[in-house]
Amino acid sequence: MPRTVAGLEIKSTAELRVMRRAGLVVAHALAEMSAAALVGTTTAELDAVAREVLAREGATSSFLHYDVGYGVPPYPATVCISVNDQVVHGIPGGRVLADGDLVSIDFGAIVDGFHGDAAVTVAVGEVAPEALRLSEVTREALSAGLAKVRPEVSVGDISSAVQSYVRSVPERYGIVAEFTGHGIGTQMHMTPDVPNLGRRNRGPRLPIGAAVAVEPMVTLGSPGTHVLDDDWTVVTRDGSLASHWEHTVAVTPGGCWVLTAEDGGESILTAAGGRFAPLAD
Ligand code: MF3
Ligand code: CO
Repeated sequence: MPRTVAGLEIKSTAELRVMRRAGLVVAHALAEMSAAALVGTTTAELDAVAREVLAREGATSSFLHYDVGYGVPPYPATVCISVNDQVVHGIPGGRVLADGDLVSIDFGAIVDGFHGDAAVTVAVGEVAPEALRLSEVTREALSAGLAKVRPEVSVGDISSAVQSYVRSVPERYGIVAEFTGHGIGTQMHMTPDVPNLGRRNRGPRLPIGAAVAVEPMVTLGSPGTHVLDDDWTVVTRDGSLASHWEHTVAVTPGGCWVLTAEDGGESILTAAGGRFAPLAD
């Protein structure tokens, strides 16, 4: 078991390598689901793809039966599929993906007791240019946040980078504040929260061996959300489109390692000015 310092779980190099295996399962599943997200596919079919990848790679689901307590039913599926005005935590089912849908696919896997968690937004068929741009800005905001990660970065530096990137583009977007990124390791959701709005130099600092999931949620309209009667699906209050991108990242001696990126984050971090520093095998 990892040690805990000031409430933060600190992973050894061996433990980070196990987390990398979980992260790669997540990367593979997201790639397969993204390829399967075509006009006519049901969201339940994407969930089945995720379960196949878990079985094939000998991993288990972070999400299935996840229990937040306080009277909410346990999460009933393996993946969260959130379409158009759905922001996060959409439950897969009979919904058929249609031409023009903007779809967030969010997935978590456990390998040897350690979690990986990531999300992508994909376009189904021909999607409106403003929706594609929303997804691009959200993905770039994630990159800007990841680029800050290095030993002793403050959580506020990550939050501020995400916020500043979204505010730096000419378009005016909403940044969802009611849901955040999070620490991750032997549980999917751990301390600290990683908000998508914040100020530099604030919040806890992340030492070598810390791991967090960074996950901007950005809307074409107002940032307000509410939860549907299924107790899970988060939608925008104003019905505007939303995008969600997420990676799990670990702090390493030379910078960071994006555990849920197939290439460990080399391309993202190089483009965004971060410090790509994977652990050697
Ligand atoms: N990736 C999501 C998050 O970080 C997890 C989905 S919630 C669950 O909040 F209940 F489905 F697990
Ligand atoms: Co997450």
